[in-house]
Amino acid sequence: MTEETKDEQFTEKYKLDPNSELRFEVESNATVLLELSEGMGEIFGSELAKNKTYTFPPGSKVAIFTWHGCSIRMKGKTEVAYVSKETPMVMYVNSHAALEQMRQKAEDDCSRGPRVLVVGPTDVGKSTLCRMLANYAVRLGRSPILTDLDVGQGHVGIPGTIGAFVVERPADVEEGFSQNAPLVFHYGHYSPADNLTLYNMLVTRLADVINLRCEQSNKINVSGVVINTGGWVRGGGYEALKQAAGAFEVDAVFVLDQERLYNELKRDMPEFVKILLLPKSGGVVERAQATRTEYRDNKVREYFYGVRNNLYPHTFDVKFSDVKIYKIGAPPLPESCLPLGMKAQDNKTKLVPLLPSTGLLHHVLSISSASLPTPDQNIIEANVLGFIVVTGIDMDKGSFKVLSPAPHPLPNTVLLVMDIQFMDIK
Ligand SMILES: Nc1ncnc2c1ncn2[C@@H]1O[C@H](COP(=O)(O)OP(=O)(O)OP(=O)(O)O)[C@@H](O)[C@H]1O
Ligand SMILES: [Mg+2]
Repeated sequence: MTEETKDEQFTEKYKLDPNSELRFEVESNATVLLELSEGMGEIFGSELAKNKTYTFPPGSKVAIFTWHGCSIRMKGKTEVAYVSKETPMVMYVNSHAALEQMRQKAEDDCSRGPRVLVVGPTDVGKSTLCRMLANYAVRLGRSPILTDLDVGQGHVGIPGTIGAFVVERPADVEEGFSQNAPLVFHYGHYSPADNLTLYNMLVTRLADVINLRCEQSNKINVSGVVINTGGWVRGGGYEALKQAAGAFEVDAVFVLDQERLYNELKRDMPEFVKILLLPKSGGVVERAQATRTEYRDNKVREYFYGVRNNLYPHTFDVKFSDVKIYKIGAPPLPESCLPLGMKAQDNKTKLVPLLPSTGLLHHVLSISSASLPTPDQNIIEANVLGFIVVTGIDMDKGSFKVLSPAPHPLPNTVLLVMDIQFMDIK
């Protein structure tokens, strides 16, 4: 296609001055096509290639930022599209530069690179900042570990899990980071509040495994860890953030938008932890509860069908007798009913074997990497190999039907039930 025909097809054109960004939101039933025709621009830290067409699905909320100016052409229906000159990008890139200095120092001293926890209330751009920090690091040749402790709106694995992966190349503009062999742990619920004891235990476990990974590679160790968190910052949520900071032995906490949280952390964190307050971008879009639910369902769908609907999951029967199904956490019992020496807390991390029942229908199950026989604790703390969904149950035949990314047989026989359900409607 010639430049002229492209200009005819792409009806919207924007010329961005240095240090400005084009923000847009795709309509719920539309897609937007976009090209960079001149200059240089980036989306959340990933550079755009010139004259390449990028496609954004319904509901996407995007910002194209330019340091030196650029021209963009676009077509498709947007809810809003505007250029803003007010962005916190200089501060964000300065916080990246501070981390990079710590990496250089770590390289010189043969020590550990920076570990940063990104915190703040909901909808302040935490996930976006983590993506930028990882992108900027990898563009300088680093390989940081991106960790997601957000069990609701996280980006590693599916909702109901926490996880991490090594970032080896910048995020794809359309599809995000390619997650090569992510490390994922089963939690099972959408909010840390559902089982805070288990949540904190798994965060500590994830930090331990990441430490081991860092010991194996100097490059990863020097590059450090960027940790995303959920938006629950009061009460138990705040305690969980402090616990995570301790478990990962973070060097810095970046607080987005909330002075109160910043001051609480200043008060409670050890002296050597740098606490930095960063403004939120005016572009960050608040998401309604329905949008959050949709995001979570979509994450599960993407796991099975791919971001572009380009994966073909398998369906097969599994005999009840071939697997062991567990749930983590027993219903609370009054202290007086607990066995001697057992605390109510222990109940929260108890492994409970489940008998097959129709109650499992539509539930997502994590396939544990633990091999039997093994103590219960090892099953709780084992990483997961993947996920399946129960799409049918035949009590007479003693089997259930599953949706699985890989063909029969399952890679392991230990399955953990999530609260999370998925209806496989195509
Ligand atoms: N500068 C920007 N312009 C336009 N949209 C943006 C900008 N920054 C972020 N967004 C969009 O705003 C939405 C919310 O941002 P993000 O997910 O980073 O917030 P969060 O603090 O992680 O939210 P949560 O508390 O739900 O985890 C995302 O859809 C993101 O793509
Ligand atoms: Mg987030």
